[in-house]
Amino acid sequence: MDYFAEIPAIRAQYAARGWAVLKRALPIELADATLYQMQKELGGDWDSYKGDYIKTFLTDKKAFECYSYDYTPMATLQYGLTPFVSAAVGKDLLPSHAYFRVYRKGDVCHIHSDAPNCEHALSLTLGYADDFLWSFNISEKYFDADEKRPAESVRPDETLKFYDLPLSVGDAVLYNGINYLHGRTTPNPNRWAAHIFFHWVDRNGRHARHAFDGRARDLVRRAAFVFPDEDKPEKINPNRAPMAESRGR
Ligand SMILES: [Fe+2]
Repeated sequence: MDYFAEIPAIRAQYAARGWAVLKRALPIELADATLYQMQKELGGDWDSYKGDYIKTFLTDKKAFECYSYDYTPMATLQYGLTPFVSAAVGKDLLPSHAYFRVYRKGDVCHIHSDAPNCEHALSLTLGYADDFLWSFNISEKYFDADEKRPAESVRPDETLKFYDLPLSVGDAVLYNGINYLHGRTTPNPNRWAAHIFFHWVDRNGRHARHAFDGRARDLVRRAAFVFPDEDKPEKINPNRAPMAESRGR
């Protein structure tokens, strides 16, 4: 797949209608590897899960969730995706945050709009228990969110039209979640469905203060390594010992 060749069309679609599908935003092997690592490290059931098991206004049922700065590999994945998404959007972006969520069977994501720290959003499908594609929905209508929240602007007699975007594992939808209503209105057909929602702000834009969710002071810091005296012995991870031996020392 030629990602570079896809960029102009994605950028034009996103600008024109507020969303664009990024096929294989993560190659399927990387989606599988990411989700397996998350399940292994965060836990795969109620007893083992180290993130949040929570019901918010977005879902009908409790879901496994995790905030990116509570699990460094997720934040790092977002850092790595940032140049690609910046190219797709056509703006110089900085991450605000990401959320991981595993929905249970039958759950939905209620139609909503996002807060200002979600200026540019990417909903990435990481895995389906039963391989049934589950669609993301986004309104055709653009809402001016400066005056009031989009949901409050919908007239009682108004029937909104929504795009229906089925996403395979590794696919993502790039969307403007502030000015377009979005969610997942059909019940999840899988025993579980796992996704990450990444959010960015334009580093030169009006929401730039939300970069790193205001945690830049803690996160964007100069590292410091300190060497011991040279007579200190080597320390090698036992798993790496055969590799270390083969590296010509
Ligand atoms: Fe959202």
